[in-house]
Amino acid sequence: MNLTQARAALEAAPRVAVLTGAGISAESGIPTFRDAQTGHWERFRPQDLASPEAYQRDPQMVWAWYAGRYRDVLAAQTNPGHRLLVELERQKGAGFFLATQNVDGLHARAGSGTHGGRLIELHGNLMTARDEQTGQIVPLPAPDALQLPPLSPSGNRMRPNIVWFGEYLPEAALSAAQQAFQTADVALIIGTSGQVYPAAGLALEAMKAGATVIELNPNTTELTPLISFSLRETAGRGLALLLGREEEGGYAQHV
Ligand code: APR
Repeated sequence: MNLTQARAALEAAPRVAVLTGAGISAESGIPTFRDAQTGHWERFRPQDLASPEAYQRDPQMVWAWYAGRYRDVLAAQTNPGHRLLVELERQKGAGFFLATQNVDGLHARAGSGTHGGRLIELHGNLMTARDEQTGQIVPLPAPDALQLPPLSPSGNRMRPNIVWFGEYLPEAALSAAQQAFQTADVALIIGTSGQVYPAAGLALEAMKAGATVIELNPNTTELTPLISFSLRETAGRGLALLLGREEEGGYAQHV
């Protein structure tokens, strides 16, 4: 498959399912998950912070890490990759489904999920927290008004509303995503290393169901050998090429 064929398949597809990972927010200046940690967190592995055990051990430190990421994403801007996915949703309407592993809220901020399609944040988001007793989801106040650990309206301690390593994804969200990838005509896998399941498994569901699966990533991933067409491009430029917003030429391609 080549770019022209991939572009034609996407254009003709009534149902498009998209899986994004940290790579689509890299162009907004948000470090990807497996890049070296920046700043104060250099000596920690994210996996040692994003876990129920770490939170049990030191809730204050885990909250300090999430509060820092919350502040960073609020200061970030959406980028062309986020905006081109909104344009694709406008074209496909109810046939569009976006499952993101990202917790930065940038897809929602760009307007994904409000143009007839669906947006599912598989791993939660940094903008809300969860009452540890009742499970109530509460939006966080602005960073400078945030007390750590935050308390819910009922006065209970709240935890980050994030799916941690070792925890299960919300059942309804996962089955909606599986359904979308099993019935998609085209699946786009954008900016993910494909190392974390069940999210990465969505790409395999689409392949198994006979969809055309297109990967956008400057690097090859564990999924690349299984993909119909893998473009060695960033999310923004790869989507521009796929949507015919940029001329071909000068792009690397995984044959
Ligand atoms: N455009 C597209 N892809 C990019 C870009 C870019 N500009 N820059 C980097 N990438 C790619 C990298 O090549 C890498 O394959 O983004 C991917 C990021 O991979 P990870 O850092 O592993 O992030 P992700 O795949 O989203 O991690 C999945 O794992 O750590 C858990 O829950 C966490 O949601 C996260 C999940």
